[in-house]
Amino acid sequence: MLKKIDPTKTNAWASLHELAGEQAQTIKELFKADRSRAKQFSVEWDGLFFDYSKHRIDEEIMDALMDLAKECEVNDGIERMFKGEAINETEDRAVLHVALRNRSNRKTLVGGVDLMPEVNEVLDQMARFSTSVREGDRLGATGKRFKHVVNIGIGGSDLGPVMAVEALKAFQCNMRFHFVSNVDEAHLVETLKQIKAEETLFIIASKTFTTQETMTNAQSAREWFLQQIEDEEAIAKHFVAVSTNEAAVTAFGIDPGNMFRFWDWVGGRYSLWSAIGLPIMLAIGDQAFFKLLEGAHAVDEHVKVKGSQSIPSIMALLGIWYNNFFEAESHAVLPYSQYLSRFPAYLQQADMESNGKSMTRAGVPVRYSTGPIVWGEPGTNGQHAFYQLLHQGTKLIPVDFIAYIKPVHGNGDHHQKLLANFLAQSQALMQGKSVKEAEKELRNEGLKEEEVVKILPFKVFEGNNPSSSILFDEWGAYQLGQLIALYEHKIFIQGLIWNIYSFDQWGVELGKQLAAPILDEMTAKRNGSASSVRFDGSTTELLSRIQRKLK
Ligand code: F6P
Repeated sequence: MLKKIDPTKTNAWASLHELAGEQAQTIKELFKADRSRAKQFSVEWDGLFFDYSKHRIDEEIMDALMDLAKECEVNDGIERMFKGEAINETEDRAVLHVALRNRSNRKTLVGGVDLMPEVNEVLDQMARFSTSVREGDRLGATGKRFKHVVNIGIGGSDLGPVMAVEALKAFQCNMRFHFVSNVDEAHLVETLKQIKAEETLFIIASKTFTTQETMTNAQSAREWFLQQIEDEEAIAKHFVAVSTNEAAVTAFGIDPGNMFRFWDWVGGRYSLWSAIGLPIMLAIGDQAFFKLLEGAHAVDEHVKVKGSQSIPSIMALLGIWYNNFFEAESHAVLPYSQYLSRFPAYLQQADMESNGKSMTRAGVPVRYSTGPIVWGEPGTNGQHAFYQLLHQGTKLIPVDFIAYIKPVHGNGDHHQKLLANFLAQSQALMQGKSVKEAEKELRNEGLKEEEVVKILPFKVFEGNNPSSSILFDEWGAYQLGQLIALYEHKIFIQGLIWNIYSFDQWGVELGKQLAAPILDEMTAKRNGSASSVRFDGSTTELLSRIQRKLK
């Protein structure tokens, strides 16, 4: 069980409050005062460079943040997770996505049973399957090779694979990958327009195999498929499932032999390392998929050894510094890579479904802010959209910039420009532009005195906006594994300090519960039955308008 420590009762919390209040020097001034700052506040590790020198921190603040981690017993929490304790207490489950990428193959015990043989067995099954599809040994019902893979899933059964397939597109085979998640028919219809049934492999991905969106899309895809290929037996060749629920998979009509298992100790949003990653393996091949696992495993080992001193812990503590001592509400993640365009969306689920909690582990409401709003878009696109607010808006938004040094493609010119922008933005956010600097610029442009006076206030950038830079030497599956695992551990460590449960998601249940009677009501009305449920006034009005217009 995780300890239940109120972070606000720690000595470090009080010190951090004082330090935040006392802070007089800007980041720019801190750089001026200390030439070794960039070295002091950066970590070089396993082909990546984590620079956190452009933060509102000094040695004393970092010490206090480390004390907070110590007083909240972060290392104890990490150890309990790796040991397979049921730290997801409200669901009475262990949290062992780390076992899925345990490339050391060291024993990982739950209830005295080693999980690794089962984990390896499924990985082998995935590898055999993906190789046979990629090499054309496994064909469709009419003897054609698969050209399309359609993954039907939502949340953790979608966002991880979508993000990773996109992130590693440069290393992909020539099959096309499609992801259908939304229950809005448009998502499925527009996908089906692009494919031919006889060349398509459908993966129905759902941990529970009960999720409304996934089951609806899967059923419709099945019907569409049978309209194209009028042979029930062809289903076995074209539909596979990834799930923990064998009974439901069988009831849906998928042979258990075409099912890839995973386990209840894998949270949906932490599942891309499991069979949920099957589309990733199909896209990049088993060997590259294993590299992805290796990258994540390297981070796991780093966290095990370094604990609260690890890179994810530093990321977590910096987040807490702004979230709890400067009232920052959000956190921007800005990858300077088009391949990482879906990374912020992926992180939204990973972070916000994990730490969007307001109850402590002791079951009483928290009295402090927990998980931030996570958002972002790739650079440089974002620069021409929302960066204005980062530079001159009224909100404090800590930023993570992400990039890799070696270009994936040959044209160095594009990449140099991309990296120049990556560097310039964190610099601009930190240093801003003073009145003096802005005035000098305007005068150099030859503006008249009254024009200088008029325009000057708008040209000033306050600066002092904090950011981290995560810079990889190169880009590939290994690095993606590292990147994801860095954030996974960051999220966990923040949850440990905030004294919340990061691995349940009860907050998504209410909406699902309430949709059921509304749907029943709609169906009843369509069948001409009388209304049976009373809704609030607004819902009743909206519902009756929908029903009137649908008639
Ligand atoms: O609605 C939230 C959620 O439970 C996520 O946590 C999960 O990733 C998603 O739904 C999909 O669930 P499943 O894989 O069981 O279909």
